[in-house]
Amino acid sequence: MPAPTPLLLTIFGASGDLAYRKLIPALYDLSAQDLLPAGFAVLGVSRTEYSDAEFRDRLRAGIEEFAHREVEADALDRFLQQVYYQPLNTHEESDYAVLKERQEALAKVHGTEGNVIYYLSTPPSLYRVIPSHLAAHGLHQPEEGWCRLIVEKPFGYDLESGKALNDYLLSILAEDQIYRIDHYLGKETVQNLLVTRFSNGIFEPLWNRNYIHHVEITAAESLGVGDRGGYYDSSGALRDMIQNHLLQVMGLVAMEPPTVVEADAIRNEVLKVFQALRPIREEDVATQVIRGQYVASHIRGEAVKGYREEKGVSPDSRTPTYVALKAYVDNWRWGGVPFYIRTGKRLPTRATEVVIHFRETPHRLFADLCGLDHLFNQLVIRIQPNEGMLLKLGMKLPGMGFRVEHVNMDFLYKDMGANYVPSAYERLLLDAMQGDATLYARGDAVEAAWRFVDPILKAWAHEPDLPVYGYPAGSWGPENADTLIEGEGYTWRYPAHNLADDGVYCEL
Ligand code: BG6
Repeated sequence: MPAPTPLLLTIFGASGDLAYRKLIPALYDLSAQDLLPAGFAVLGVSRTEYSDAEFRDRLRAGIEEFAHREVEADALDRFLQQVYYQPLNTHEESDYAVLKERQEALAKVHGTEGNVIYYLSTPPSLYRVIPSHLAAHGLHQPEEGWCRLIVEKPFGYDLESGKALNDYLLSILAEDQIYRIDHYLGKETVQNLLVTRFSNGIFEPLWNRNYIHHVEITAAESLGVGDRGGYYDSSGALRDMIQNHLLQVMGLVAMEPPTVVEADAIRNEVLKVFQALRPIREEDVATQVIRGQYVASHIRGEAVKGYREEKGVSPDSRTPTYVALKAYVDNWRWGGVPFYIRTGKRLPTRATEVVIHFRETPHRLFADLCGLDHLFNQLVIRIQPNEGMLLKLGMKLPGMGFRVEHVNMDFLYKDMGANYVPSAYERLLLDAMQGDATLYARGDAVEAAWRFVDPILKAWAHEPDLPVYGYPAGSWGPENADTLIEGEGYTWRYPAHNLADDGVYCEL
């Protein structure tokens, strides 16, 4: 793998949680593998007053807790010597003159050759402010070297604001300078969707409406909103998980084979999937989208708060913490195949997976003998935890007659042995340093994803009578979600922590 060219990484919002838990530990992990360029420095920027030494001390604790690789004292000291801090009022344009000076000084010390990546790890209200002030000081067009901008989610609040943000950033930078991060694309197992589909001859012939009955994408979380209630209450599960992470996963499941493994080739195909998504009309939202909110309950004997009692959440909030929907991709491959997407907080377990439900055999030869109503083959692609794949097959029970049982054939990533699985941020940061945007969302795709969810958001906003179902914390969400699934004998899969333990509706 080619080492990235020298660069300075300036992180806005550097005193925040994301930098502390994810970004800086991921950079340490890269440095421990010698993957950072020879000329490299990090400049943390935010309003809080820290000296370089104070900032480094703070980060030290974060790295020790959150780095994936073993932390060695010498390696950590060496890494932290490249990290600096600049207090700045990001709203104040004149302050950026200080930033410019500081960046120039660091470029000299560390030989970063004028290349710079700006990482916006800030509240979204600053996603226009910072680039505009950078541009006012010419910081987006270094005299020598290049400039890239990484933008965290949420990229907009709805179609209109997502599009406006895109337009604005594109008035300052070119598309190939903008890296819209979606940490799901940095997950090994999400990338493995591409490899599973396009490096095996056995799946692709079946990967279409002729053999697939429906596709299920589930992201279940066992935690609640924790201390993010303030942010979450104005967002909700559709914006927080589906518009970005789960639609991106769906894009990789449904896309046509790209001709090469290159950013535009892959992202063109994902875009086509989003463009083919059948819009859910406002009048169909009631039947195609189910939303819910967790209410207080007991989980394993412990009392758990309801969403409305969480810090920062309005006591009469109607923000969904659970959404399940049925979508269709109107193209030749997928015509008529439902894609069910479901996500929720405070569900019984944490599991993200894609389930390909194959059609039944055309003739149910063993139906009367097998003791099972239906025999469905399923391919479960587990994104997390217990990463791996599972294929469900019918097998003959040893003994007289032809009794058939569902059996599991599974593969677990951990069985691949010593291979180190990098964190999503490690992969994505390195890609941005190398100028590879394959695993970043392109502007047109982000807009197309907003175009799909926008009518749902509008229906919820315009029609207060559309129900928000309460579900007890620790349960699988509103029962009404079952009504979405078409076809006799089909239901959601209820995943458990261990990939192979399915059908356990309630995991103790
Ligand atoms: C974030 C959402 O983008 O993804 C969170 O804002 C969610 O609400 C998280 O919990 C899930 O990520 P992961 O990697 O834990 O599945």
